[in-house]
Amino acid sequence: MKTHTLLMPLDMHLHLRDGVMLQNVAPLSAYSFSGAVVMPNLVPPVENKADVIAYKARIMAAVPNDYFEPYMTLFYKNYDKAFLESVADEITAIKLYPAGITTNSEGGVSSFNIEEMRVTLQAMSDMEIPLCVHGETDGFVMDREAEFMSIYELLASNFPKLKIIMEHITTKEAVAMLDKYENLYATITVHHLILTLDDVVGGMMQPHLFCKPIAKRPEDLDALLSVALEAHPKVMFGSDSAPHPQHKKESCGCAAGVFTAPIALQLLCEIFDQFGKLDNLQAFISDNAQSIYGICPEFKEITLEERPFVVPANYSGVVPMYAGETLSWAIESVD
Ligand code: DOR
Ligand code: ZN
Repeated sequence: MKTHTLLMPLDMHLHLRDGVMLQNVAPLSAYSFSGAVVMPNLVPPVENKADVIAYKARIMAAVPNDYFEPYMTLFYKNYDKAFLESVADEITAIKLYPAGITTNSEGGVSSFNIEEMRVTLQAMSDMEIPLCVHGETDGFVMDREAEFMSIYELLASNFPKLKIIMEHITTKEAVAMLDKYENLYATITVHHLILTLDDVVGGMMQPHLFCKPIAKRPEDLDALLSVALEAHPKVMFGSDSAPHPQHKKESCGCAAGVFTAPIALQLLCEIFDQFGKLDNLQAFISDNAQSIYGICPEFKEITLEERPFVVPANYSGVVPMYAGETLSWAIESVD
């Protein structure tokens, strides 16, 4: 039987939520990942030092062992330098949301006025705090990410030493930016390596595949696959696994988010194997992220094998991508 071993898998973009949801989903990521960059879009958002410390403690209390590192983030505001200095040791990155663009982002940035942002971004650059960005405008849904490229250019050129992570990229335009600016990097989800808009709304509407940014065109999928499968050194895996209760997904006004945390490694093995690129998965799932973020996760070894795995119908009331369907790789052991 074909097997494949991954060392220290990292999820560089994860929603763990809080309360009961946190209790339910954190163990699923902690089982198969060494660590994850945890998004700050709680209600209210994580935006001060006490919030970060307390949220990290709640995450650690929700995971069954110590072999999972939550890399904490702050919700971007135009913070001053003294504040950033006081919180720098507690965070791995700061996450910027355009105001109102997605779930719990109302308090985000409403105008990309570089002069208003300069103090914060220059301080982050000096302190080597990466800026993670949800890159969408409020334009036509299929064009939102491509339209945001001019803002990435503005940020990247004004702060050439600031590491800017284009989160969950979905377009060929974003892929092209990687080679244009030295300081731009990207995370890619597993669902955006599989889906196009057709899968979401081309037949019966699929609420569990609906997320922001929405999956795009076949040529965008091809561009994402080309950099992921080659493990381009500036791309890394970030699931954007975003759990919502079943009734919020299967409802009028479906919440955005695809829940993939417990099936991500299995799906990635399937994709990379299909293209004959399994050997590149280690860089995509961990090594690139370690170099980009300068992090050194604790040892963890996950072995997967090529055998049928039926995805559970739900995990404590959260429906995963491909619920009830059979994947061709399964987790065999975790050490
Ligand atoms: O689909 C999404 N869900 N995209 C985001 O940017 C946020 C996330 C969530 O928090 O549910
Ligand atoms: Zn997200």
